[in-house]
Amino acid sequence: MLRTHTCGELRPENINEEVRLSGWVQKIRDKGALIWIDLRDRYGITQLLFKEEDTKPELLNKVRSLGREYVISATGTVIERESKNPNIPTGDIEIKVTGLDILNPSKVPPFTIEDNTDGGEELRMKFRYLDLRRKPLRTNLELRHRMAIEVRNYLDQQQFFEIETPYLIKSTPEGARDFVVPSRMNEGEFYALPQSPQTFKQLLMVAGYDRYYQIVRCFRDEDLRADRQPEFTQIDCEMAFVTQEDVLKTFEGLTTHLFKNIKGVKVDVFPQMSFDEAMKKYGSDKPDLRFGMEFVELNNVAQGKGFNVFNSAELVVGICVPGCAEYSRKQLDALTDFVRKPQIGAKGLVYVKCNPDGTFKSSVDKFYSQDDLNGWAEKAGANAGDLLLVLSGDANTSRKQLAELRLEMGNTLGLCDSNVFKPLWVVDFPLLEWNEESARFHAMHHPFTSPKKEDMSLLKSDPAKVRANAYDLVINGVEVGGGSIRIHNKELQKQMFKVLGFTDEEARAQFGFLMNAFEYGAPPHGGIALGFDRLVALFGGHDSIRDFIAFPKNNAGRDVMIDSPSPISEEQLKELNLSVDIEDAKEL
Ligand code: AMO
Repeated sequence: MLRTHTCGELRPENINEEVRLSGWVQKIRDKGALIWIDLRDRYGITQLLFKEEDTKPELLNKVRSLGREYVISATGTVIERESKNPNIPTGDIEIKVTGLDILNPSKVPPFTIEDNTDGGEELRMKFRYLDLRRKPLRTNLELRHRMAIEVRNYLDQQQFFEIETPYLIKSTPEGARDFVVPSRMNEGEFYALPQSPQTFKQLLMVAGYDRYYQIVRCFRDEDLRADRQPEFTQIDCEMAFVTQEDVLKTFEGLTTHLFKNIKGVKVDVFPQMSFDEAMKKYGSDKPDLRFGMEFVELNNVAQGKGFNVFNSAELVVGICVPGCAEYSRKQLDALTDFVRKPQIGAKGLVYVKCNPDGTFKSSVDKFYSQDDLNGWAEKAGANAGDLLLVLSGDANTSRKQLAELRLEMGNTLGLCDSNVFKPLWVVDFPLLEWNEESARFHAMHHPFTSPKKEDMSLLKSDPAKVRANAYDLVINGVEVGGGSIRIHNKELQKQMFKVLGFTDEEARAQFGFLMNAFEYGAPPHGGIALGFDRLVALFGGHDSIRDFIAFPKNNAGRDVMIDSPSPISEEQLKELNLSVDIEDAKEL
């Protein structure tokens, strides 16, 4: 062995022991008579000490030839440190080194490999293997590992089987674009990488494996954001002979188990909120419940008073921001600029300051008396010292805009504590949403989601009104997971494809295998998939999932370390029958 201990292991109990440690040189401090080296490995840092007076000259020369990130192995005695470092677990001891092997030299790293690095995002992505040596990233990956183990423990206890499903499949229509893989052996044909194992897990239910799960990679060719990667991991599950409540209970159990065993946090029973209520109260189907500021509809107190912007609006809606009546002109202008940003797109923002002396000051004083504004404040439950922020326009748009402003205020006021967790289930999603571009309905979750029994009669007459047996798990404003109770009846599935604009032939060509399977005794079933990267990032207290994935892609979908995607050779293209003949191309 090239080591007797790791760099995170030695304590005062080990004093006087002869040890051998191996790792990377993090830092060298050469004070002439004394040289200290911080030696790092996955487990921590241990200080090595060289005293000039009792170190052989060859050894001293070797030490002085070292640079940052050299891989070394040091032999010596554990001694008590003179000046202890309470910030690290090995801070009471150091190693008085008697022998040193240089296992491998290192070029000077392009950024410092310490908790706070001087490296920019792009550079750290290019040298990801160096960035991964830093403790914050190591801690993130360790958290991911622990959570995966706890997920497996819990689901195993609940009789779930982990079953792998294929990666080379046929396209499944789940909203995003597929990544496709050309087939060499089947000219002109392509596999698709799964956006999720949705149809396979349903087939496993038909096969009788009534509790399935998989911690599985999924692939979606969609625009990237902090919480979206083109390849990401789901905790994907399916259960047979269950109702919606059974699925929610099981995965509330999983989430609670993780909070308890990973964070040591006890969370309350998850509330359930309908999609309609979430949109009305928070303008979002993934409300952050760490703070209030519920929406207040002000139409009946704000309309009919000569302010045309409000009079012509479908909805006048506001939030009451506690304790912000003292906001300056500059702060209010900044909020107006915020809602006017093109990404948000509001035309303007109306404010009402509920002054501590009981008077009101608003941006629309011209149109509203003190009595009128008092009516708004009463409706909003505002107290003296609070600030009302109001938007108007068509209902859906104003709600979405106000949702952004609410989150901005929550962040500004420090109400989004990453150590507080507020999970909830959002239920009763609409089954369908109208897509202007294709001028037809799309499934809001996916085409296998069942409509609510009581809404079934609307499927023909008013499809937009049909609610689905679909649910999302939302924690702190993050959509952590989504699922549904599925259709298990061939006729209903056929009807659903029709509503979605598929002809019988198209439905058969794409999903014949599933509809056929439904003819051989499909049990009632339902399931859910949790976004594992998002869940880990949430537990780690971050918005971005990137640093919880060992080798992520950048915002342009590139892996800048291995330089991918990249062109392939003409030979490979030919083999795949993808080669374009230059002459043919000219004719085209
Ligand atoms: P859905 O599409 O809602 O459902 O996905 C489930 C969860 O996966 C996570 N997620 C992502 N995470 C990172 N990057 C992405 N690009 C990304 N896309 C989705 C989210 C999301 O809630 N088959 C269904 C599940 C089911 O019905 O059982 C499905 O995939 O956290």
